[in-house]
Amino acid sequence: MEQTQTASAQKTPGRQAEGQPILRLERVKKYYGNHGNITKAVDGITLHIDRGEFTAVMGASGSGKTTLLNCIAAIDSVTSGHIFVSGKDITAVRERDLADFRRENLGFIFQDFHLLDTLTIGENISMAQIISGTPPKVIDRRVRDIAGKLGISGILEKFPCEVSGGQKQRCACARALINEPKLILADEPTGALDSRSSRLLLETMASINEKLGATILMVTHDPFCASFCGRILVLKDGKIFTEIRRDGKTRKEFFTEILDILTLLGGDTGNVI
Ligand SMILES: Nc1ncnc2c1ncn2[C@@H]1O[C@H](COP(=O)(O)OP(=O)(O)OP(=O)(O)O)[C@@H](O)[C@H]1O
Ligand SMILES: [Mg+2]
Repeated sequence: MEQTQTASAQKTPGRQAEGQPILRLERVKKYYGNHGNITKAVDGITLHIDRGEFTAVMGASGSGKTTLLNCIAAIDSVTSGHIFVSGKDITAVRERDLADFRRENLGFIFQDFHLLDTLTIGENISMAQIISGTPPKVIDRRVRDIAGKLGISGILEKFPCEVSGGQKQRCACARALINEPKLILADEPTGALDSRSSRLLLETMASINEKLGATILMVTHDPFCASFCGRILVLKDGKIFTEIRRDGKTRKEFFTEILDILTLLGGDTGNVI
């Protein structure tokens, strides 16, 4: 799984923090079920993520990673606690305003891309902008700009079935980035990719983090993927078990440290992390 690092991946990703955190969680709990049968999927998580951080969320299957991401995306409501995105408490946003909140603040990169087969790559990237009524000329400029940065300018007229998995995933990145969201959320974004495409996607994400200052929160099981991040939160039973930072370490050194942490987390998780 471990591979030779590239020059672009050697530096610690992320920019200096500026002002208030992009994301702040205060004692967030998400419980499922009722009295006799409660699952504490997220069990009192407090954390801050600064602008420009590239953070991974790891942990065994069932430790609460997706639930945490869904609460941050306001796809799931919290049982208690507060989630602030750029200072705004999203747990207090009315249901009917949530779609606007998501479109204006968040970008999503899904495991299976969620591209529409009947639209071209360019149309897939621009769809959210079309919905929000952005003038066509502005959309066109933004699509060309972001496609250029992600190296997919040549495939904008093609349909998803005509491009590779890695190109689809970069299209998904472009779509997540086009609104310049405050926060990009990704749940197992490399899950459906082969190792070469995974690596390309991770390098793309590290580069949008480094060069464009995008703030990314990514769920992953894979220590290789996590080693591209600047910080890793490890969940256990809905709580933050530990947190590690890459600081000045090379990606390879960080990868080894992540493996050590996962070993510490317990032998029983060896097959599922
Ligand atoms: N809608 C739901 N109803 C009831 N229980 C749920 C629901 N969604 C998740 N859970 C439970 O909450 C816990 C956390 O689930 P979650 O999907 O967040 O885990 P995860 O860390 O993302 O796991 P994986 O790595 O397998 O994707 C699990 O015990 C799961 O069974
Ligand atoms: Mg999950």
